[in-house]
Amino acid sequence: MSDKSARLTLGNETWDLNVRQGSVGPEVIDIGSLYRDTGMFTYDPGFTSTASCESKITYIDGDEGTLLYRGYPIEQLADHGDFLETCYLLLYGELPTRAQKEDFDFRVSHHTMVHEQMTRFFSGFRRDAHPMAVMTGTVGAMSAFYHDSTDITDPHQRMVASLRMIAKLPTIAAMTYKYHVGQPFVYPRNDLDYASNFLHMCFAVPCDEYKVNPVLSRAMDRIFTLHADHEQNASTSTVRLAGSSGANPFACIAAGIACLWGPAHGGANEAALNMLTEIGSVDRIPEYIAKAKDKNDPFRLMGFGHRVYKNYDPRARIMQKTTHEVLAELGIKDDPLLDVAMELERIALSDEYFVEKRLYPNIDFYSGITLRALGFPTTMFTVLFALARTVGWIAQWKEMIEDPSQRIGRPRQLYTGAAQRDYTPIDQRS
Ligand code: CMC
Repeated sequence: MSDKSARLTLGNETWDLNVRQGSVGPEVIDIGSLYRDTGMFTYDPGFTSTASCESKITYIDGDEGTLLYRGYPIEQLADHGDFLETCYLLLYGELPTRAQKEDFDFRVSHHTMVHEQMTRFFSGFRRDAHPMAVMTGTVGAMSAFYHDSTDITDPHQRMVASLRMIAKLPTIAAMTYKYHVGQPFVYPRNDLDYASNFLHMCFAVPCDEYKVNPVLSRAMDRIFTLHADHEQNASTSTVRLAGSSGANPFACIAAGIACLWGPAHGGANEAALNMLTEIGSVDRIPEYIAKAKDKNDPFRLMGFGHRVYKNYDPRARIMQKTTHEVLAELGIKDDPLLDVAMELERIALSDEYFVEKRLYPNIDFYSGITLRALGFPTTMFTVLFALARTVGWIAQWKEMIEDPSQRIGRPRQLYTGAAQRDYTPIDQRS
């Protein structure tokens, strides 16, 4: 608690509100008793000034371009650690010792298979279904296959469900991809690391040997680490809100996946690449820049701007490096889409409109280019984001369930509809 308080004056009355100080970041005015004390709500569409929970997991300083997982800068985790280490950190709060890491890696890699009946569940979907539609359905269906880990009051079951999701989401994502492209499912291999196993399940076929390229697997692992958590964004808040009613963890993560799909959130990586394809060549960029600036045109440059990062998205900086590593490894030089991307980046970073509004390229701008180079169709991009974000959603869900002050989430509203009126029989309506 801070020693400050905030004073609210309404007419002749005043109320003192407690001010809370986090470990870092802005102070927070606690308005929990506002309605009880004043009979008034606050109004904040889009939650631009509202903290919905207390959390110890992830911290973002949008002005400084800082992202910390449990206090550790994303750059250090991406450079020196691997994704499963980040998963452990997000779930347990501390970096693992060597023995803890080995045990965690073992537990995750030995839960990668999914119930065999799930393979038949997939065939209920149309082949041309969007992979995110399939993901939302199949992850939601996990609660039908793993009901021995849906009792949220049991800490052991909570942890089993958490590990199951971290371990099985890559398998489900790869099955979604295989179903999408009409190839047979490839079973997981426990001898491979998390990212290599995922690439193997996506790109191996029964008629050929598939050798995982370590540079590409490292890039995949880094993409997962960069997307692992991002504090109270739309999908994470969705998971928390769904979980606040006591819904089972698989259902909550499916809700998060559904929310992530939107183009203003996780769907932006797919939208960014579709936009680059639509632009097609460097000489058409000015036309699209003009559209983005036109107030009467709803078009936005996908992969640019962020609600919180108003300086630079630190994940984008790391991703940009990874993009170049992957392109160099694959020998991709003459890619017209890449030319469009690089020129768009250059213009947006120097154009007054974008500079003034602080619209920098975000992680989705670079991850789309990298994922395409890795061989994924654009329709799979958001699926990969969902796979990586699952651990963040789970860590946030667990934190919420384990918080003694947790209550069902129930936002209020500013009602502007009709006041009470009497029903008019249909023959008396004009
Ligand atoms: N292109 C052109 N103009 C833009 C863009 C853009 N991408 N983004 C924001 N603006 C303008 C917007 O028109 C507004 O102008 P004005 O003040 O004149 O009305 C101003 O910038 C502020 O925009 P806003 O919509 O109030 O900002 P926001 O914080 O609500 O939205 C955003 C953030 C990410 C939804 C938005 O920048 C956007 O739609 N970007 C494109 C989609 C995208 O790349 N999303 C991925 C975000 S990163 C991954 C993730 O965390 O999910």
